[in-house]
Amino acid sequence: MTDTLTDTMTVLVTGASGLVGAEVTARLTAGGHTVVALVHRNGDLVRNSGGRLTPGPGVLTPITGDITRPGLGLTDGDQRLVATADRIVHCAAVTHFGLPAERYETVNAAGTRHVLDLAVTHRTPLVHVSTAYVCGERDGTVREDELDVGQRPGNDYERSKLAAETMVHQAAVAGLPVTVVRPSIVTGAARTGRVRDFMTIYPVLRVLTRGLVGTVPAHYDAALDLVPVDRVADLVAGAATRFDAVAGRTLHAVGQELTLRDFSDVLAEYPCFQVPRFLPPSAFSASALSDRERPYYDRVIALYDTYFRRRVRFDDTQAAAAFGGRPAPAGARPYLRRLLDHCLRTGYLGAPPRREPAGARTDGSTP
Ligand SMILES: NC(=O)c1ccc[n+]([C@@H]2O[C@H](COP(=O)([O-])OP(=O)(O)OC[C@H]3O[C@@H](n4cnc5c(N)ncnc54)[C@H](OP(=O)(O)O)[C@@H]3O)[C@@H](O)[C@H]2O)c1
Repeated sequence: MTDTLTDTMTVLVTGASGLVGAEVTARLTAGGHTVVALVHRNGDLVRNSGGRLTPGPGVLTPITGDITRPGLGLTDGDQRLVATADRIVHCAAVTHFGLPAERYETVNAAGTRHVLDLAVTHRTPLVHVSTAYVCGERDGTVREDELDVGQRPGNDYERSKLAAETMVHQAAVAGLPVTVVRPSIVTGAARTGRVRDFMTIYPVLRVLTRGLVGTVPAHYDAALDLVPVDRVADLVAGAATRFDAVAGRTLHAVGQELTLRDFSDVLAEYPCFQVPRFLPPSAFSASALSDRERPYYDRVIALYDTYFRRRVRFDDTQAAAAFGGRPAPAGARPYLRRLLDHCLRTGYLGAPPRREPAGARTDGSTP
């Protein structure tokens, strides 16, 4: 491990095949750095553009491991390789919603413990990718230097990410050089709207725009924060390569604040889309949904509707100071249009609404 910033360095990236990890890996190798890319089940490194990641001028060395295992389950040879890393960028996590709580604890919390053990053993500076939603179900402005203020996590994923970031914070207090990057909801590229994986908010868009669920519990003044995947990757890769400038800081990787009014108005511009009705949570009852809507509500909307209730704003003063601020608010509606247009181009939202039998597969992954 080197203590000073070198022109080029070796970076261990966990979750390198993931949506964020692949883009971070691409940026690092494009900058001439060597990336030791930890892959798990999926060994394909595919860019958000859909093309295979072609490293260069830096070197890419994929290794297979499992963060749920001590030493990341690496062979002796790969352990020697990761010991040479100048930075660790920890992206790996379980990000699908609706899984048993222990999956999140095992991968996101215990997995982070194993990554921390590695970082502490070799005193390797760590960039930890957390989530802005470690803030839980609190309203108001969330600062980057706030972590556990007694908030209630919105789901088991958020609980595990809060536990992981708390461990990272404790390691930092004990002396490990650490930077935390907290993305909000990662969505398509800023300019094109293109996204590699239709995850997180995308299944929700699909169910709502098809009219498969017509009513959603929400606060009309709630805001969704959608951050382009390229902005997240820029910040994470930048935190690794300019680590000294951001060491000890937490950076909100946030983007367009989209109010529910923005959301409804933009959906209404598309004749092919249904527009959901937002009801105050106190007036909403899932049992009042039709038999056709109920499975879609339970398996998709219920996993995410907490995000339609949050009146939260993420302050990004530290991220802005290091890497420039979030996009201007006027860009929220055009950005949502770009996301929707991309979904229509690919057919993800393009098929005419069809009647699907109740109980059809509608889990939170990619319907
Ligand atoms: N996507 C978002 O909206 C969002 C928002 C805020 C924060 N984040 C955070 O950003 C980070 C990256 O998210 P992402 O969107 O890139 O997620 P992703 O596309 O789901 O990728 C997750 C990666 O983690 C790997 N992984 C899962 N279990 C593993 C294990 N046991 N050992 C080693 N690797 C494992 C996966 O590999 P396999 O597929 O091969 O298992 C995959 O490469 C995560 O920490 C996530 O919590 C994401």
